[in-house]
Amino acid sequence: MSWERYLRRPCETDAVAMRRLVDATGVLDVNSTYSYLLMATDFAKSCIVADRDGEMCGLITGYHPPERPEVLFVWQVAVAERARGTGLAATMLDALVNRVRHARHGHPVTVEATVTPDNRPSRALFGGFARRHGVPITERPHFAGELLDPAGGHHDEPILRIGPITAALAD
Ligand SMILES: CC(C)(COP(=O)(O)OP(=O)(O)OC[C@H]1O[C@@H](n2cnc3c(N)ncnc32)[C@H](O)[C@@H]1OP(=O)(O)O)[C@@H](O)C(=O)NCCC(=O)NCCS
Repeated sequence: MSWERYLRRPCETDAVAMRRLVDATGVLDVNSTYSYLLMATDFAKSCIVADRDGEMCGLITGYHPPERPEVLFVWQVAVAERARGTGLAATMLDALVNRVRHARHGHPVTVEATVTPDNRPSRALFGGFARRHGVPITERPHFAGELLDPAGGHHDEPILRIGPITAALAD
């Protein structure tokens, strides 16, 4: 399955579908529709969606930390159950990083993401990304679980750092 032609930046009318897609994963924290609206408008350049004939199959939300514009912080990655295992998440991540690098005139970009220790698919996604681009991946402690739930219901969220990606840009 070739996903490239279904990928695009999100726009304001995507916010509800984005929240629904995240909700349907059953494992990601679901944010308000308003927060997805912000991602689809103010942060659209650092986000990507897969829209196959009006059906949202995947998304990545991300942003550039204000003090570190060379970093693409990947916030949420979601792929609809029926589209999993077809390379969609990997294709979205490659396309988003390529787009961000073009916007930064080819300057290096480093990808960061927090991933719970038990999320194997997510770790596989970022590990595969590092391998494809021939860059190192490091992990260090970041957000402790109690910051997200003082009652202890949330795992720690260590941060993965992948890059910097410096290869010459494709078109
Ligand atoms: C994680 C998720 C986005 C992967 O989407 P996907 O489109 O199925 O992933 P891809 O087909 O692009 O596969 C990417 C890599 O992950 C691996 N992978 C995918 N699903 C996997 C699974 N269930 N277990 C182990 N590895 C898995 C693939 O083998 C591939 O590895 P490779 O690059 O070494 O070949 C999807 O499973 C999902 O939405 N999960 C629920 C939400 C979530 O956990 N998001 C991650 C937060 S960052």
